[in-house]
Amino acid sequence: MALMEIRVYGDPVLEKKTEQIAEVDESIRKLVSDMYETMKAAPGIGLAAPQVGISKRLCLVDLSAGADPDQLKVLINPEITAEEGYQKAEEGCLSFPGVFGHVERPMNVKVRYTDLEGKKREIEGDELLARALCHEIDHLDGVVFINRLSPLKRRLVMKTIRKLKREGKWEHRPGEGSEERA
Ligand code: NI
Repeated sequence: MALMEIRVYGDPVLEKKTEQIAEVDESIRKLVSDMYETMKAAPGIGLAAPQVGISKRLCLVDLSAGADPDQLKVLINPEITAEEGYQKAEEGCLSFPGVFGHVERPMNVKVRYTDLEGKKREIEGDELLARALCHEIDHLDGVVFINRLSPLKRRLVMKTIRKLKREGKWEHRPGEGSEERA
């Protein structure tokens, strides 16, 4: 198992739509294992393959941020099939160190996906789980959370990012994540 470098905003891989995974083979299982270590070390409650530079339709969600292995959800080729309700809460992203903003999301989602054994499954989540699923699936479509902020808040965030870049501080450092980031 190996830690992977978490890409920060500005890296084009984060804004590219990912490719479907045709077969769940050993290379995918190895990638999942490395992504899990990387997410735990961050720490974060989710990680999408583009965040480690891999443009494939694969993401992890783990609301325990690595504390409880039973909570890990590995989603291959996930698609949202239904959504209901509304929530708005502060969100962060491991690819945006130090940046947070309030994002509107559905209160409940259903997601169809393939598991690590190659079986088709469905998961339903509400509240934080719905938020994390939407955030990760957005990543797989090349959408980052600041795209969903209000125009004013987005301008402020862009200003902060430019400042951090100028200061050479625009990078992810393991251990500086939090349970609100994915
Ligand atoms: Ni993210």
